[in-house]
Amino acid sequence: MTILVTGGAGFIGGNFVLDWVGCSDEVVINLDKLTYAGNLESLASLDGNPQHIFVQGDIADAELVRHLLAEHQPRAVINFAAESHVDRSIHGPEEFIQTNIVGTFRLLEEVRSYWKALPDQARADFRFLHVSTDEVYGSLATDAPAFTEEHRYEPNSPYSASKAASDHLVRSYHHTYGLPVLTTNCSNNYGPYHFPEKLIPLLIVNALAGKQLPVYGDGQQIRDWLYVKDHCSAIRRVLEAGKLGEVYNVGGWNEKPNLDIVHHVCALLDELQPKADASSYRDLITFVTDRPGHDRRYAIDARKLERELGWKPAETFESGIRKTVQWYLDNQQWVNNVQSGDYRNWVTQNYGERSA
Ligand code: NAD
Ligand code: TYD
Repeated sequence: MTILVTGGAGFIGGNFVLDWVGCSDEVVINLDKLTYAGNLESLASLDGNPQHIFVQGDIADAELVRHLLAEHQPRAVINFAAESHVDRSIHGPEEFIQTNIVGTFRLLEEVRSYWKALPDQARADFRFLHVSTDEVYGSLATDAPAFTEEHRYEPNSPYSASKAASDHLVRSYHHTYGLPVLTTNCSNNYGPYHFPEKLIPLLIVNALAGKQLPVYGDGQQIRDWLYVKDHCSAIRRVLEAGKLGEVYNVGGWNEKPNLDIVHHVCALLDELQPKADASSYRDLITFVTDRPGHDRRYAIDARKLERELGWKPAETFESGIRKTVQWYLDNQQWVNNVQSGDYRNWVTQNYGERSA
C-alpha cells in the first residue's frame, strides 16, 4: 500500500513522513516543490530508504500529479503543501493564491479523475485528507469560547483567506462529486524542523546568536500551541477513522499569550544553555511594530476529535517545548544550513538523481 503526501519536506509534512515511516510499512510518495520552506535535510534519516520516494514538483502541475497517481496508485492523498507564513502573505500574497487555491484545485481535479476510475473496493477505501488551520476562523474575543467545527469562517490575512478558499474547494468536491475527503483544522504547531522565521524557532535561534527577540505589538496576542508530533498522530487517526466529508479541529488546549511563550523559551535556554555572564536571554526581548491586521486570539475546541475518534495529545506544553528547545540545541548544524542557505543544495547533493 502507498500514500501520497504533498508538502512532505516542510515542517509538519516532514515530521509526518518521518513518523509514518517509523510506524507503518506503507510507502510514502512525497511530492514537494521545495520552496524556501522545503528542506530535504530534515528527511536525511530516510536517505536510501525504499519506503520514501521523493519527487520534486508542484501540486498545481496537473500532468505530474496525474502521472504520480497512475504510477503509484495511492490509497490516500494527504495535502500539506501550502504557503504557510502569515508575514510572507502580507508582503506577497500572490504565491498563496497560486499554491493554496489554484494548487489545491488542480490537485483535487486530478485526484477526482483518479478516484472515479478506481475499482469499487479501492474507490470505497480511498481518502483525500486536507490539512488546514484554525486561522480560517478569524480572531476570537478574549472571553469567547474556543473554535468548534461549526464556527463561521472569517479569515483575516491573505494566508488564512487562501486556506479558507482551499477548505471550501475540498468541501465542495465532497458535496458535488462525492470525493471521500476529510479536513483537519489545527492550531499553531511547534517542534523539530520548524523553519526559523516562525515565532518559537526564531526565538531559540536568535537567542543563541545573541540577537533581539522581536515581540509584535504588546505581545498579548494569544495562540493555542500543539506539539507537531501530536498533530501528526491526529492526522493519522482522522485518516484511519474520520467520517467522510467531516471536519476535525485539532488542538491541545494550550492557549498562551506570545509574551509568555517568549519568557518560557528564555527560561529554558537560561537553564539548558546558560550565558557565560549568567545574564538572562530575557534581556534580548524587544517590542517591535505590530503585524498589520494581527489576529488577537486563536483557540481550538478539540472535543469532537477526542470524543469521536479517541485522540489525545501525548505532550503537555511544558514537555513539548522542552523537547523542542533541546532539539534546536542538539541540531545546530540543521539551523546553520538553513541560515546559510546550504539546505537548498541538499536536493542536488543527495536527491538529484531521484527527483522527477
Ligand atoms: P511549511 O511552510 O513548513 O511547509 C510547506 C511545504 O509545502 C514546503 O515543503 C514547501 O516546499 C511545500 N510546497 C509549497 N508550495 C508547494 C507546491 N505548490 N507544490 C508542492 N509543494 C509545495 O508549512 P507547515 O508549517 O509544515 O504547514 C503544513 C500545512 O499545515 C499547511 O497546509 C499549513 O497551512 C497547515 N498548518 C500549519 C500550522 C503551523 O502551525 N505550521 C498549523 C495548522 C495548519
Ligand atoms: P507565527 O509563528 O508567525 O505564527 P502565526 O502567525 O501563524 O500564528 O507567529 C505566532 C505569533 O507570534 C503571532 O501572534 C505573531 C507573533 N510573532 C512575534 O511576536 N514575533 C515574531 O518575530 C514572529 C515571527 C511572530
